[in-house]
Amino acid sequence: MSNYNRQKIVDSVPQKGFFGHPKGLFTLFFTEFWERFSYYGMRAILVYYMYYEVSKGGLGLDENLALSIMSIYGSLVYMSGIIGGWLADRIFGTSKAVFYGGILIMLGHIVLAIPGSVAMFFVSMVLIVLGTGMLKPNVSTVVGEMYSETDERRDAGFTIFYMGINAGAFLSPLIVGSVMDYSFHLGFGIAAVGMFLGLVMFVLTKKKNLGLAGTTIPNPLSKAEKKKTFTFIGLGVVVLAVLCAVLIPMGVLTFASFINIVTFLGILIPTIYFVVMYRSPKTTTVERSRIIAYIPLFIAAVMFWSIQEQGSTILASYADKRTQLDWMGIHISPAWFQSLNPLFIIVFAPVFAGLWMKLGKRQPTVPQKFSLSLLFAGLSFLVILIPAYLGGTDSLVSPMWLVLSYLIVVFGELCMSPVGLSATTKLAPAAFSAQTMSLWFLASAAAQALNAQVVKFYSPENEMAYFGSIGGAAIVLSIILFALAPKIQGLMKGIR
Ligand code: GLN
Ligand code: ALA
Repeated sequence: MSNYNRQKIVDSVPQKGFFGHPKGLFTLFFTEFWERFSYYGMRAILVYYMYYEVSKGGLGLDENLALSIMSIYGSLVYMSGIIGGWLADRIFGTSKAVFYGGILIMLGHIVLAIPGSVAMFFVSMVLIVLGTGMLKPNVSTVVGEMYSETDERRDAGFTIFYMGINAGAFLSPLIVGSVMDYSFHLGFGIAAVGMFLGLVMFVLTKKKNLGLAGTTIPNPLSKAEKKKTFTFIGLGVVVLAVLCAVLIPMGVLTFASFINIVTFLGILIPTIYFVVMYRSPKTTTVERSRIIAYIPLFIAAVMFWSIQEQGSTILASYADKRTQLDWMGIHISPAWFQSLNPLFIIVFAPVFAGLWMKLGKRQPTVPQKFSLSLLFAGLSFLVILIPAYLGGTDSLVSPMWLVLSYLIVVFGELCMSPVGLSATTKLAPAAFSAQTMSLWFLASAAAQALNAQVVKFYSPENEMAYFGSIGGAAIVLSIILFALAPKIQGLMKGIR
């Protein structure tokens, strides 16, 4: 986007009106609040819905299969950000992409709210994957558009937005988890209502608050390109449909093979990104060095998100099967544990921000922060090993162990999540700047693609080996990264 256009957008947004921030932040904050409310509310009960017996309102799938499906689901949600980013960049503009994305998400939750079969579940999954891909990266892009490049409120604006994400993620598992025993479908219905409220908010306030932000199409397709692209997409959909229609009855495309395909894609796509960026003639020598520096950081991010995302799969199963849920006179829903991560993020984000501010120039470098995040992630898995070590894997453990594990992983998340996107923005070559949001989300996509394989090895009987080896691997990686940090910092060529 040219500087002129950028300034025109900034000028069109009322620059005050939400805690000293542009009024549009109000709109985007609540849109994302409700989107995350519905997403994390749905995820908090989905795993139970899949593996609970039919008599308890579930689908009765095998538990490890359910854990793998949760992982590929999470992977696809972040992978589809590439499609969402592309659609906004070339066809719709960000604002329309957010709106259509929200509609698809809401429809996805409505499909889940209607009692149905495994097939319905997959229909809803497609809707939510595509919808989130269209909404999530684009709503964050619009946040950036409202501030001029030199605006000092910019980082604070993103912090407020991040709080919106976590506030939504905190609230919904509490509500949805409370109704899950009564009816899973009611829970999914609540997620649908959340997304509906987000859409209403967005539509009612966007004209007044967002001005021109999100309305331009940065790099529109020409007529000829349009024709070519639509033919290509149309053919692609037909080929996919035919392949499914043939391969599913033949037993070639099964749950298991689909999971393997997603794992493969989860690794392949970021690899292609790196190769293309590295080899592009538009990439300068300095930028090539920065790409090399970014690779170990990306790998660290994959390891970190792999553990963090197991909070809603493996630890959710642990909450259900290994934890005392009748505790101090209250009955705890296993889904409530999903509120802990966002709660701790909200509580500790200001502490970490203050700490970095206080340390000023002495604060850890970006590679050191990534190394720290791996250390905490590893520790969060090692602590959950202690109760089994002390009491065996047959008796139920105090919920405080899980609380501790979720707390420790958040310390890691606060060393990684707020810096990751900005590090990606600074390290990716300028010619690829429109795709940095997608690139950063690909770390989460790759992590969960790998998780789809890893979670197959989990069972309460071998949990010590499971948590021990993954936690240990994260700590080893953390040490390697720490040792390499000065070298990586050098390759970053002046970026801090
Ligand atoms: N939990 C955050 C969110 O949902 C960050 C996710 C991520 O970067 N993978 O927005
Ligand atoms: N902590 C998760 C994210 O930041 C919920 O949003």
